[in-house]
Amino acid sequence: MNQSPNIVVRKPLPKITWILALICATVPSSAAAAEGPRLGKPASRQEIAAWNQTVFPDGKGLPPGHGSAVEGKAVYERHCAYCHGNNGLGGSGEELAGAKHRLIDSNPDKTIGTYWPTATTLFDFVRRSMPPDAPGSLSNDQIYAVCAYLLHLNGIIPESSTLNAVDLPKVKMPNREGFIRVDAPK
Ligand code: HEC
Repeated sequence: MNQSPNIVVRKPLPKITWILALICATVPSSAAAAEGPRLGKPASRQEIAAWNQTVFPDGKGLPPGHGSAVEGKAVYERHCAYCHGNNGLGGSGEELAGAKHRLIDSNPDKTIGTYWPTATTLFDFVRRSMPPDAPGSLSNDQIYAVCAYLLHLNGIIPESSTLNAVDLPKVKMPNREGFIRVDAPK
């Protein structure tokens, strides 16, 4: 078996062939481009506006409206208590008030009063995600009211308080200085 194997020496393809092959591989046909990746329909301006509702710590982004802690109790009992329990003490959803242990204790209670650094973030969170089975279903007045009630339950504001876009950012949260500030690169 000393027959040598057939050796075929191929001439390298001219460069232009490679370039054409690359173009064919990377540019989709115009029909496919028109169809798109079929991931749904483009979001409308209204849909984007409905989701673009960030509230910043200084209160920027807060909508008009107002609500009292007393009104908020009724909102809470109707829309929140079945998960978060009476008086925010917890149920299938997390405890929101009534902390017995501080964050630095071995079994910390992470409530609005012990954990959240700004009251404006509470508004933002509730507006965009609570109740989880119907986010966006509460009016701005109801959200101000339920925030006031929750802040009252945590002993941060008196029961007689009413909150609006001016007063909510002024609420001093106990854990305001407990976070390390990180500036995102501009
Ligand atoms: C169907 C059950 C359910 C209802 C109703 C509900 N929540 Fe929640 N909530 C949850 C769950 C579950 C979480 C935890 C979600 C997570 O951590 O992402 C949560 C988290 C929260 C938190 C953040 C707690 C924390 O410190 O991390 C707040 C504040 C809150 N809910 C407020 C409300 C308010 C106000 C209402 C009523 C308007 C409400 N929730 C109604 C289930 C519910």
